[in-house]
Amino acid sequence: PEKGLKDYYKAYFPIGVAVSPRMVQPGPDAELIKAQFNSMTPENAMKMGPVHPEENRYNWKDADAIADFAQQNNIKLRGHTLCWHNQTPRWFFTDSTGKTVSREVLLARLKQHITDVMGRYKGKIYAWDVVNEAVPDTGTGIYRKSKFYEIIGEDYIEKAFQYAHEADPSAQLFYNDYNTENASKRNRIYQLLKSLKDKKVPINGVGLQAHWSIYEPTAQELEESINKFASLGLKVQFTEVDVSVYPKEHERRARRDTDKSEFTPDMADKQAAHYKMLFEVFRKHRDKITGVTFWNLTDRYSWLDNFPVPGRKDYPLLFDQNGQPKKAYESVVKF
Ligand code: G3I
Repeated sequence: PEKGLKDYYKAYFPIGVAVSPRMVQPGPDAELIKAQFNSMTPENAMKMGPVHPEENRYNWKDADAIADFAQQNNIKLRGHTLCWHNQTPRWFFTDSTGKTVSREVLLARLKQHITDVMGRYKGKIYAWDVVNEAVPDTGTGIYRKSKFYEIIGEDYIEKAFQYAHEADPSAQLFYNDYNTENASKRNRIYQLLKSLKDKKVPINGVGLQAHWSIYEPTAQELEESINKFASLGLKVQFTEVDVSVYPKEHERRARRDTDKSEFTPDMADKQAAHYKMLFEVFRKHRDKITGVTFWNLTDRYSWLDNFPVPGRKDYPLLFDQNGQPKKAYESVVKF
């Protein structure tokens, strides 16, 4: 068989992909995953809503399908995610009368959830995103005003890590967030992680999501992130890499000319150049980076389709809509 991403990066770090349960059914997607990747993350299947829709009911089918595929094909598996303000079912925060539960009840539910989910995949999942996106994008605060924060208080984060460590002492535990190249948010995430380290909370790494575009980040911003978080003694993983061909929403007005739905040769060139730079930086910092995962497989489907602009298709990945390697792929594997 031809060489895949995982082979080119064998001496560097595992290369992962976010998957849906459909992609691991026999077919071209499954073949592409096996040929190219040696790590996987379930895109949605292990989140609270999908996996734990009611208090006493778990839906393991999709999560199991992904975990089985990973095990059968000797692919590492990252768990995503145990505690997030998004995709958490309403029952989690309310009692049978619809009233908001107490701190004690919510902590007990969080512990039960983490214990059950991590317990089921013990030994099959080597790293977990324990807490996801707990820091707000703007302002000076460290804690997003989520239901977990409002009901439990700021220590919900350390509790989640403690429960996770008890559930599977050998799993690597990560805090995962986005916009980490924004200096203000990066500093606030750093403060959070430093306080966890100071309190001896069992945390092993930081997941930098890496939902980027061909306009950002710069190599310098990226290196600043890697060095800053690694200085805390944490492993760094890029957990949700994609490179949108469109400018971020706040830049849209200025660059409206690029804002069409087709993948132009100019976009292909810019994207290849950007991916080249990103992976150069990753390789340079291989001593600090223990994984790089793409958020979705091919341009046939990305969470960025219709987001944030309805009706707009995006092309953020290394494989085109037919599963063929793009220019960006070549720029990542030729070094
Ligand atoms: O499964 C239901 C289906 O039953 C229903 O009929 C359909 C109707 O809308 O919705 C389906 O659920 C959708 C789910 O994706 C599965 O396709 C949700 O509406 C949709 O909100 C959900 O989006 C996911 C999003 O997280 C939720 O915030 C994306 O697929 C997923 O890629 C995205 O991933 C996140 C990471 O977990 C954390 N970091 C950011 C990243 C991108 O937003």
